[in-house]
Amino acid sequence: MNIKRIISFILIVLCVLPAASCGLLTTYETTEQTAEAETEGTRPEITSPEPVTLAPIISGDPTETETDEPETEKETDKQTETETEAQTTEAETEPYANELGFKVDLSAYEKYMDPEDKDAYLILVNPDNPVGKDYKPDDLEPLVDTRSDRSKRYMRLYAAKSLEAFLKEARANGCKDVTVTSAYRSYESQKEIFDGDVERFIKQGMTREEAIAKERLDTAYPGESEHQTGLAVDMHNLSSAQLKFKDTYEAQWLAENAWKFGFILRYLPGKEEITTYTYEPWHFRFIGRYHAKRIYEMGMCLEEYLEFLKTE
Ligand code: DAL
Ligand code: ZN
Repeated sequence: MNIKRIISFILIVLCVLPAASCGLLTTYETTEQTAEAETEGTRPEITSPEPVTLAPIISGDPTETETDEPETEKETDKQTETETEAQTTEAETEPYANELGFKVDLSAYEKYMDPEDKDAYLILVNPDNPVGKDYKPDDLEPLVDTRSDRSKRYMRLYAAKSLEAFLKEARANGCKDVTVTSAYRSYESQKEIFDGDVERFIKQGMTREEAIAKERLDTAYPGESEHQTGLAVDMHNLSSAQLKFKDTYEAQWLAENAWKFGFILRYLPGKEEITTYTYEPWHFRFIGRYHAKRIYEMGMCLEEYLEFLKTE
């Protein structure tokens, strides 16, 4: 019997121990699963440490690459932010960068100052080329720089916008008090000015013939004024248009820079025999940048330039 008991004990031991071993493993896994489930919400932080601790060990380069990429992107972002800040600061403090060196950002006016159709405003109105009594442009726009004590002045759209740009830049360059005293004039307005002056001269003792001859030196006969085209403007900083304006800084700046905005000084000194008018440092004429630049560089008046174009 003792021998049977001993054999039975041995058999029991051989069968039960492996089963007990299996049971322990199963219990361990279940505990791990439970721990994961309990901490699921914070799993990213307490994830099995294997990936974290193994990463440097598995391979240096791939891990470093993975680690470096976001940092590199952050660096790039930082650089971009820094550059953007620098650019903004520069834009706020530096003059607006453009080909013509404007201090003001006039990019919105560019299409007006330099019209796509460069010949659209190449119009000649003078005693030999009058406009009709009823001629009136259909695109007149009010001028923002009309002198405050005058009724609103008007010019054609492209001229009005270009003039706005011209005077913005002029102010940025120290011409702070130049304003528009006259722009578009109807045939009737021109007649009123002309006749009024003639009557005044007659009262001063001149004959009508003398009065008209004197008036025609600086005022166009009705129908012969380019003010009627809506492309001419008188601007200065005096109480009235006087020749002494030519000696001011403002007159010189306007004359030198007018072409950049598509304007020419229309009645130049030394060209009186051609234009038939005395020098008017306040009278500018819109023509578009392409032709204005050429006219300015060649030192011609409009009549000369149009003759020159026939020879090109
Ligand atoms: N003063 C210019 C010539 C005009 O009257 O049109
Ligand atoms: Zn004028």
